Amino acid sequence: MEGAISKPPYTRRIAVVTGGNKGIGLEVCRQLASDGVTVVLTARDEKRGADAVEKLKALGLCDILFHQLEITDSSSIAALADFLKTRFGRLDILVNNAAVSGVEHVQEVDTNEEKFNGMDLNQRLEWVLKNIRDTVDGAKKSIQTNYYGTKHVIDTLLPLLQSSNGGRIANVTSAYGLLRRINNEEIRQELDDIENLTEERLDELLGKFLKDFEADALEMHGWPVGLAAYKVAKAAMNAYSRILARRNRALRINCVHPGYVKTDMSMSSGVLTPEEGARSVVNVALLPDGGPTGAYFAMGQEASFV
Ligand SMILES: NC(=O)c1ccc[n+]([C@@H]2O[C@H](COP(=O)([O-])OP(=O)(O)OC[C@H]3O[C@@H](n4cnc5c(N)ncnc54)[C@H](OP(=O)(O)O)[C@@H]3O)[C@@H](O)[C@H]2O)c1
Repeated sequence: MEGAISKPPYTRRIAVVTGGNKGIGLEVCRQLASDGVTVVLTARDEKRGADAVEKLKALGLCDILFHQLEITDSSSIAALADFLKTRFGRLDILVNNAAVSGVEHVQEVDTNEEKFNGMDLNQRLEWVLKNIRDTVDGAKKSIQTNYYGTKHVIDTLLPLLQSSNGGRIANVTSAYGLLRRINNEEIRQELDDIENLTEERLDELLGKFLKDFEADALEMHGWPVGLAAYKVAKAAMNAYSRILARRNRALRINCVHPGYVKTDMSMSSGVLTPEEGARSVVNVALLPDGGPTGAYFAMGQEASFV
């Protein structure tokens, strides 16, 4: 068309990070930007997101943009997709980091990290479990955010990732999402039978979990207890990642456990810094072409989902 100016191709890789305003997500943004990736730092709160971008810019990292994203809000996800399409026409890396623990604290959280000095990893985990309480509302929120919110982000941004020459998804999961946490043998096997597992069956299993939660029948049906919904949502997300990886062979879609990290989510009880946790995530987000897909990584190594 006469007079039309074609946009030069955008050569730097473009990454979206969900929940990029703090904790591991903020560090993932910093490290990706330091590795020469254009980062779209997203956060559900405009102010918290804009402040985080300013923090990174003050470190001299200029190729960082902010876009609002509430992962449980379909119009917010659609607005992000429109922005990426108009601005870049594609997406190279999606880091699904945003999540909630879905639990209540039994008392005011004392943020002083010193109380953990001298405690080993298991003692810290025990301390956390003693200081939280699962609730029905929290369980619903955890499933809605950690599974359905993340899934909706992936499904909406998938066409943009398919427009990339090397699309990658890194789903930030947890060792709590490993199948060994589920005592019910049948459910464990179903979630591991990726050839036959469907999205509809995942919906049914999550519906059954919430019903059992409301009926106070988690233990009876072999579901995990203590951070129950968090564990089940992460297990479901792991399974969905594996299904997607089989369907999208050109992409690299993996899950990564960042380790036990000092953040708000862990009530600062972790043994790793956000920088150390984020390094594992960034390594998976930047896996080379032809690298693993449909895999789970922990401590920098590929490991079993079970
Ligand atoms: N910390 C650990 O030891 C540990 C261990 C294993 C796995 N993980 C995983 O690592 C990831 C990051 O956790 P973290 O420890 O860094 O936690 P965090 O400090 O609590 O950060 C969570 C981030 O997710 C955002 N978020 C929550 N709900 C959201 C929503 N509906 N829409 C958009 N953003 C939302 C939060 O935003 P706001 O600031 O607005 O709340 C925040 O930016 C999570 O997937 C977590 O499950 C953490």
